[in-house]
Amino acid sequence: MSVDEDTLAVYRNRVDDYKKLVQGVKNPDLDYFLKCLPNGARVLDAGAGPGLDASILKEYGFDVIALEPVAEFADLIEQRGIKTIRDSFDSITHKTEFDGIWAHFSLLHISRDHLPKILSNFRTAMKPGGTFVIGMKLGKGSKRDKLGRLYTYYSTDELIKLLTTAGFSVFRKRQYRIVGLAGDKESCIAIMANS
Ligand SMILES: C[S@@+](CC[C@H](N)C(=O)[O-])C[C@H]1O[C@@H](n2cnc3c(N)ncnc32)[C@H](O)[C@@H]1O
Repeated sequence: MSVDEDTLAVYRNRVDDYKKLVQGVKNPDLDYFLKCLPNGARVLDAGAGPGLDASILKEYGFDVIALEPVAEFADLIEQRGIKTIRDSFDSITHKTEFDGIWAHFSLLHISRDHLPKILSNFRTAMKPGGTFVIGMKLGKGSKRDKLGRLYTYYSTDELIKLLTTAGFSVFRKRQYRIVGLAGDKESCIAIMANS
């Protein structure tokens, strides 16, 4: 199982803090993703948190499904009228179902040995030529932050290799720095790839 229970407990206890942190933040990668999707596309927001990105996808007319294991986040997503799978990445065993998968700062909470299988399952869950976005933190190794969340860090080359091995074709990447819930400024990357 990919789930780190201590990480989920941190989110469970900080639902409002997390919502405040991300509310209203403009995301150029989400803007780009919206343009890649066909009309009415079926999209999975994997590790959707309070569902702000999922609700933007819904506003654009896409058929959005959120995946979120933290019940308090899942409740907020469902209040926005978005179908929600209340489970972990391991439950994504769909076949040729999604035109897009948005995995924004969520796959960084699973251990390194789980990522290849989950990426491969995501690829299988997507239609050919679909768009996958993965947002991760850049660095080496893994550690818990001050709040107790588990983070696994990658280099850009490592992520591209993992995506390629899972069958994706990378076509865009954007590197930047952000301050997260724990207050530290860290380097991040959003990589876009076709299935
Ligand atoms: C940093 S938040 C990102 C939320 C949202 N995608 C965003 O960008 O604001 C990480 C999210 O990943 C979810 N998550 C952590 N481990 C997960 C797992 N094993 N399966 C699915 N989601 C997971 C958490 O519950 C949380 O909602």
